[in-house]
Formats: sequence, structure tokens, C-alpha cells
Amino acid sequence: MSAPRRPLTAHPATALAGRVQVPGDKSISHRALMFAALAIGQTRIEGLLEGEDVLRTAAAMRALGARIESAGGAWRVQGVGIGGLAEPEDVLDMGNSGTAARLLTGILATHPIFSVMTGDASLRRRPMRRVTEPLSACGAIFHTRAGGRLPMSIEGARDPLPIDHRLQVASAQVKSALLLAGLNARGTTRIEEPAATRDHTENMLAHFGADITVEAAGAGRMITLAGQPELRAADIVVPGDPSSAAFLQVAAILIPDSRVTVQGIGLNPLRTGLMLTLREMGAALSVTNERIEGGEPVGDSVAGFSTLSCVDVPAERAPSMIDEYPILAVACAHACGTSRLRGLAELRVKESDRLEATAALLAANGVSVTIEGDDLLVHGTGEAPEGGGMVSTHMDHRLAMSALVLGSSARRPVQVDDTAFIDTSFPGFVALMNSLGCKLA
Ligand code: S3P
Repeated sequence: MSAPRRPLTAHPATALAGRVQVPGDKSISHRALMFAALAIGQTRIEGLLEGEDVLRTAAAMRALGARIESAGGAWRVQGVGIGGLAEPEDVLDMGNSGTAARLLTGILATHPIFSVMTGDASLRRRPMRRVTEPLSACGAIFHTRAGGRLPMSIEGARDPLPIDHRLQVASAQVKSALLLAGLNARGTTRIEEPAATRDHTENMLAHFGADITVEAAGAGRMITLAGQPELRAADIVVPGDPSSAAFLQVAAILIPDSRVTVQGIGLNPLRTGLMLTLREMGAALSVTNERIEGGEPVGDSVAGFSTLSCVDVPAERAPSMIDEYPILAVACAHACGTSRLRGLAELRVKESDRLEATAALLAANGVSVTIEGDDLLVHGTGEAPEGGGMVSTHMDHRLAMSALVLGSSARRPVQVDDTAFIDTSFPGFVALMNSLGCKLA
């Protein structure tokens, strides 16, 4: 992203209050645009996240021939059908978005076209081999920079073979890339995941009429997809992003006298690990008005100031809260005792090395932290952290928002070097937090 840096200071706040909504779910928004572009007919998408990451997906799908327009609050996508994408005239720039890059690589792998993909400095550091290696089995040819990094060229397979693969990492992005490739392969694609990860791709493929089955397989799942279905346009309502709501929930829990309701957030059980963990810590966090909207469970969360105890989070829970560890670590900094967050190797390959950067964020603000192998240990005192530090966000939106919540709940202000990347997932975050009573300036 070429936007100028946006430094910001979070001053200690008291008594957050309000009933608010957060922008649409990022994972579901990317998928809605991509799948609608591969369907026959016109799909209407309500509640799409209009953040930088998703706008990159919209631009890429347009460059590949889909008609996508924003029409008075909702979005309309005219799909081209499976196998119908056209060769893009220029490089596809996926900005800061790993999800956009990985999922689109899957789609392009089984279209007989040539494309080149790049991203910003953060995305160009992230591993692509986790998708290019298994995708090569369908006949696609990839050339990447050293270490399997972007930019890369993609020569899609002319006569794509279906893939039968067991995932090496618990990654919804890799699973989705392989399933998307399978859409245009003749025959049956089979993907086994050793641990269940977010299943928005599976849910949405079924919503568009694909022949997909999901079965339990040990601790994970076996997913089977029949190739070359006709996807039919189907309207989508995108729920509020639970990963965005997390910052508001934790702020309300940490700041004395607060009570904040977030309406209409997604409650897919493969996304709610943070809410479970916060409750284990003793947080007053409840859900009301539970309902099903657009095939996904949705509800309103109510969070209030709470005294927290420390927690031991098992590695198996990581896939259901993979993006929430930085803000959970901020909550642990307020808790009494040592919290151990286990099995965080995947955090090292997010928008930044989130394991190191989360530890640095806390350490700069007077919190004692240790990294032991892939575990993060946060030694809380049961009191608000000292604060007063300067945080480097390394082009990572979730670190920036976590640092602002820390500053709002610490004893002294916290400075953040750059908050511009918050726009990738949560446009309007600063104004929304200030409307609740934060002092972000
Ligand atoms: C996502 C999956 C997760 C998550 C990312 C969004 C998705 O990545 O961190 O923000 O939409 O599939 P991995 O599946 O690689 O862990």
C-alpha cells in the first residue's frame, strides 16, 4: 500500500459504551467476490467488507473478466462461469492480502491462462509454496522468487487434473486454494485437513450449488468436491467480522466501567476460539439474538469490564482464533498470572512475524513476555500494564489495532508508528473506537 504513514497515540480511556456494528467478514467477503465471479448469473452481496484487502480481490476478478460494481450499499457481480476467466492484461497486485493471493492462485491454477501476481512488501515476504507445491499436481506451472515468494508467474493447466492431498499445515487458505482449483478439474478433488479450519469455502460452494461433502476424519475433516459443477449465482449476506469485533470486545473487558454491544457478528464455531478463551479467563462476554443469516450463525455480543485470570490455550484451538492472538495477548497482559498460548508457529508467517511482534508490542509497554519454542507466555500482574511505549506495527493491521487497545487500557499512552494498514480489514476503526469513548489521536 502506498498510503502515507499514519502514526497515532492511544490515551488511557474509561467507560466505553455503545451498540455498534463492525464491517463485514473479510474471509467471507473475499470468497463472495471470487465465487460469484465463477458462477453463472448475477449475485448480489450485502454487507461486503469494503477494506483494502477485499477491494484488491474485486480489482483482480475484474481484471480477469468478471463485472463487479458497488450499487448503493450492496455489490453486484456478473459471473463468467467456471473456466471462463480471461487472461489479465497486467500484473495482479494483491496488496497486503494473503487470502486474496492464495485463493486466487488456486483459481488461476486450473484456467489455461498466463498471469503474474505480486503484493506489497509484507505479502512479498510471505510463503506461497504452501499453495504452489500441492497445486502443481493439477498441471499448473509456477515460477516464484527465491523461497517461494511473490512476485510469481502462473501458467494455468490446460487439462487440469483433480488433486488428492492431505494438508501439511492447518490452513483454510491452502484448503480453499485447492478446492477452488478443483472446480475446473475433471473428476473428484479430495482434501484432508488434519485439523478443522474455517469452513466458509465449503459452506459457500454448497450455497452456489457445488457437489461438496465434508466428513469427520480423525481430529480433522475430509472434503470431497466434484469437478466442473455449474455454479449458480446466489445472493449473499456477509456477517460482521468476529475478528474485527474482537478488538471492541477486549477493549470493553479491559477498560473499567465499560459495556459494549457488537451487533450481527459471525459466530461460525470455527471462528469463535477467542470468545471461548475470554470466557475461560472470567470475562463477562455473552451472546444474544442468535440466528442464521446467509447460511452462517450470527448474533450480538455483549462485553463488559471484567477481572481476568490467566489461561492456558491449547494448540488445537489455534485454527479457530488464529488472527486473534495479538489481542488475546493484550488481554493476558491484564490478567493475574502467567498465560501460555501454545502452538503459534503459523503466526510467524502472517502479515508480520506476529509471534515476535506481539511479544515486542507488550515488552515495549512494561509487560513481561517470553517466547518458548512456538508458545507465547504473558506474565500478567492482574493490573493495567504500564504503557508508555512506542509500537512498530510492521505493516500489520491486527498489531496496530491491538496496540491501540493496549494504549486505551494501559496506565500511560501508547504510540503506534503506523495505523494506515487498519484499512485493510477495518475501515473506520479509529472513529468507531472514539465513538465508544476511546481517545485515539
Ligand atoms: C483466512 C485464513 C487464515 C487467516 C486469514 C484468513 C481465510 O489464514 O489467518 O486472516 O480467509 O481463509 P490461514 O488459513 O493461512 O491460517
